[in-house]
Amino acid sequence: MEHVHIFDTTLRDGEQSPGFSMNTEEKLQLARQLEQLGVDVIEAGFPISSPGDLAAVRAVAAEIKDCRVAALARARQEDVDAALRGIEPAAKPRLHIFLATSDLHLKHKLRISRSEALAQITKAVAYGCAHCDDVEFSAEDASRTDLDFLFEAIEAAAAAGANVMNLPDTVGYTTPDEYGDMFRAARKHLAAYPKIIFSAHCHDDLGLAVANSLAAIAAGARQVECTINGIGERAGNASLEEIAVALQVRKSHYAVRTNISLEKIYATSRMLSAITSINVPPNKAVVGANAFAHEAGIHQDGILKNPLTYEIILPEKVGVPARRLVLGKHSGRNALRARLEELGYTTSDAELAECYGLATTRADAAKQVTDRDLLSIIHKVRRARTQAPARQTAAAGVTR
Ligand code: KIV
Ligand code: ZN
Repeated sequence: MEHVHIFDTTLRDGEQSPGFSMNTEEKLQLARQLEQLGVDVIEAGFPISSPGDLAAVRAVAAEIKDCRVAALARARQEDVDAALRGIEPAAKPRLHIFLATSDLHLKHKLRISRSEALAQITKAVAYGCAHCDDVEFSAEDASRTDLDFLFEAIEAAAAAGANVMNLPDTVGYTTPDEYGDMFRAARKHLAAYPKIIFSAHCHDDLGLAVANSLAAIAAGARQVECTINGIGERAGNASLEEIAVALQVRKSHYAVRTNISLEKIYATSRMLSAITSINVPPNKAVVGANAFAHEAGIHQDGILKNPLTYEIILPEKVGVPARRLVLGKHSGRNALRARLEELGYTTSDAELAECYGLATTRADAAKQVTDRDLLSIIHKVRRARTQAPARQTAAAGVTR
């Protein structure tokens, strides 16, 4: 199976979004975890943006040995020099140069012509390649770029020596069909450069970032750029855990592999939440608190009989500590019996029926039945059941 490189940009595109900034020590902590997770590339920052970011990129580059460490630069010499300083200590440095290629960006943001853009790409990429063996070029806003001009831009970058070609959906505008077609056409256009790796970089403004990334892989992209918990500009970037798990669960469909150790996904997600103090939404795929929680009685019954009935991913495969059967008003008796057993109480059918009655009353009042509630319910039921015969015999005037 062909290898898809996982390019993690949590420390750059992710960190750029409001509330997610990290200091050097925090970036280092996460970078060590990303190395353990098995990502191929860690984009550690954008060194020209601040001396602190440059220092953080250098610290990550100095310590991480198993992954490539990338730094971002606009297509200008001072940016490239700062990025090169950042990755200078890296065992495997990657220089990442970008320039917008859509007319919208060229005209209104950069205020340069198409031919000026081509000249800038050639100059910056050639300069970068003279100082680093591994250079990625990103055509920012590729998905809204006129296709013929996009081809000219990536051809200029390839001719100048770039070995990775990234076609970002910068504003999360594209659709899976369109994005896949763009990759097929671009690969065909650069057929003279068979060693170039095509890369996808998707934002989630329409909630399509993961679907678009997977479509790019199906169309031959062999690098995907993504972030832990899908953090990133605006609605975020494509989520690393969703892509990695989709490629595993639908292996026979995509026929590619990654180096990600899936069982480290949950710990990595939670480390990022702890560092940034931003929680993962409960319904988030793969790592949300509810991703493996089951409240409906019919679902709980199925899960207890065979988890595959309602789970396509086994929680332990992505490092989630334990599946949760949430006891609420939709829950069934089997889930209740199983939870009581986990708490150390084997119940008779009669006891279970009484517990069930009390638990559903509690669920109506409090939405969820906690373990503490269950313990008080089972004690109440058992106490009542041992006292009831004694009361009956006393009432009948029988002495012990
Ligand atoms: O979204 C984007 O286009 C980017 C580039 C800098 C790669 O983040
Ligand atoms: Zn981006």
